[in-house]
Amino acid sequence: MKFSKLLFGLAACALSATPLGVLAQQPIVIKFSHVVALDTPKGLAAEFFAKKANELTKGKVKVEVYANSTLYKDKEEMEALQLGAVQMLAPSLAKFGPLGVKEFELFDLPYIFDNYTELHKVTQGPIGQSLLKKLEPKGVVGLAFWDNGFKSFSANTPIKMPADLKGKKLRIQSSKVLEEEIRALSALPQVMAFSEVYQALQTGVVDGTENPISNLYTQKMFEVQKHLALTEHGYLGYAVIANKKFWEGLPADVRSQLEAAMKESTAYANKIAKEQNDKDLEAVKKTGKTQVYVLTPEERTAFKKALAPVHVKMESRIGKDLLQSVYKETGFDPTKF
Ligand code: LMR
Repeated sequence: MKFSKLLFGLAACALSATPLGVLAQQPIVIKFSHVVALDTPKGLAAEFFAKKANELTKGKVKVEVYANSTLYKDKEEMEALQLGAVQMLAPSLAKFGPLGVKEFELFDLPYIFDNYTELHKVTQGPIGQSLLKKLEPKGVVGLAFWDNGFKSFSANTPIKMPADLKGKKLRIQSSKVLEEEIRALSALPQVMAFSEVYQALQTGVVDGTENPISNLYTQKMFEVQKHLALTEHGYLGYAVIANKKFWEGLPADVRSQLEAAMKESTAYANKIAKEQNDKDLEAVKKTGKTQVYVLTPEERTAFKKALAPVHVKMESRIGKDLLQSVYKETGFDPTKF
């Protein structure tokens, strides 16, 4: 992270740490940073939360949302949260490994969830709650899980079978499970911040990538990717998190109002996620720049077969018991393919 940027953040943080009684008239400011466009499931949900928080706290809290990596990029934003330079984030579940919470990478396992209903059994149930608790020793409070959607592969050459990705450099998020996923396709994983993906695709630094459609569309990746295969081979969603010291230092009434705002925002986020992705798929088709391919059942099975070994390889990283409890909820069986 740039030193000046961090200093600025910490100065702002020192100001916001002024005893609350002294600034009785001043709203409590929450800086909420994220990396996607405004018109995405996360972008819209963050705005919704900002509005609800203001409404339910009767103006005592002002949430400032910084979208599109305008404040911090992926890795920087985690550091900024831990240092208290921002108070809230909603990073993708694939970005918690570097924080030392490897269990979150279970969400990156190929085909582990067939649909949102299966996913919600985990994110909105006891397993989800116990995962959020694992963040606390890192100085982070887990508030909720917000959906985005199912990722599909794109490139400049047609993709129908796993072999079509062989040897390609594919951009991924910072997850060891995703690295293994790309290797299982005999392709080359390239970890890169989200804000750098468009340019990397444009200049050929990478050949392709994987995204939920809402991210591909709003970052205009359709301009630089000729082919999109609806592989829907993995899930991308978010954990909404806050700096623990900040969150626990809030007056109890304000904190419970914010929790209520978060509950409503989560219902909203998880309602609009699929709608946004469906709408953006139509928009991608309309551009005429990216050919959208629907896999045949045989091609889908070939992807499942190629990617199922990732579950076995990553079992010890994620934890056998945790993984078994997720399979029990969703009915997924990696040995079936
Ligand atoms: C990505 O880096 O591809 C995603 O995590 C971006 C996001 O926040 O949806």
